[in-house]
Amino acid sequence: MAAETAEQPAVWRRLLAEAGPDGSSGLDAAAALIRRRAPRFALLAARGTSDHAALYAKYLMEITLGMPVGLVSPSTYTAYGARPDLTGVLMVAISQSGGSPDLLRTLEVARAGGALTVAVTNNASSALAGAAHAHVDVLAGPERAVAATKSYTAQLLALYLLLDRVRGGTGEVGGLPDRAEEVLARDAEVAGIAVRYRFADRMITSGRGYSYPTAREAALKLMETAYVSAQAFSGADLLHGPLAMVEPRVPVLAVMSAGAGGDAFSPVLDALAERDADVLTVGRPGTTLPLPQVDEPLAPLLEILPFQLLARHVAVDRGGDPDAPRGLRKVTETM
Ligand code: F6R
Repeated sequence: MAAETAEQPAVWRRLLAEAGPDGSSGLDAAAALIRRRAPRFALLAARGTSDHAALYAKYLMEITLGMPVGLVSPSTYTAYGARPDLTGVLMVAISQSGGSPDLLRTLEVARAGGALTVAVTNNASSALAGAAHAHVDVLAGPERAVAATKSYTAQLLALYLLLDRVRGGTGEVGGLPDRAEEVLARDAEVAGIAVRYRFADRMITSGRGYSYPTAREAALKLMETAYVSAQAFSGADLLHGPLAMVEPRVPVLAVMSAGAGGDAFSPVLDALAERDADVLTVGRPGTTLPLPQVDEPLAPLLEILPFQLLARHVAVDRGGDPDAPRGLRKVTETM
């Protein structure tokens, strides 16, 4: 997990280098197809970490393309056998392995129902990649750790580049890989913070807008590597009830970008302060762990890095082995 976490800047550089018309990512062809078919609505299908990349894509598509987007419940197509008419719909299935049977079935049903289908995977020879009209390869290289790290941020970058191309953008991401290196170089600082959570049984992660997927992914990393009961809420949802369980023994990790999502989180911070909550803030200047500043849609790529480091350190501090989470396998097959 440590090695794959450290690899991320190199993975992003490779994907950026392969993003052009002749590159092996397939980004240009997929974007051209979407533009040609001009879908009115999008559905996203994914599991686990990839589902958090899907949630990120939902924000991007709704905000930057003005396209209504929903997250699919695969059981409606698999367990319940629903066969909806998906004419005019774009379905994007996102999966590191391309190996879960329910995602494959969902994409096949969507294609049979008239949807334009795009698979975003880290495995060009997977069944999912083969079943879609277009495939985007995130080119993260083999990922061995059960806890996904580099495949997650490669998915985010691939989705950013894909949707940027769909709306005719330049694909410019500035020095993003260099900024990631700066964040990852702060491993010792994060290790110092991790000690605070050595005995925490429960934690809450939260963020709004583009930062909400980061909160979800941070909670998953903490659950699967450090076995902390970590629950993620959008900042708004936190105020609609769960706030009542917050007290000083339930630490809160808050993700706050410098954009509209971070602004919208400010009232949540006030509510947490009123409860004397133990809050760690990450992101915008002035937070506990400020990150290099990039455009808000790109911020999730940097925001998750300290949480990947944190989860691994908390796991090790608690005597665990983040490379061998109990009872988990790299590819989980659900139906
Ligand atoms: C968590 C993790 C899993 C996978 C999930 C989906 O770190 O790796 O939650 O993300 O099992 O797997 P893929 O992306 O291969 O479909």
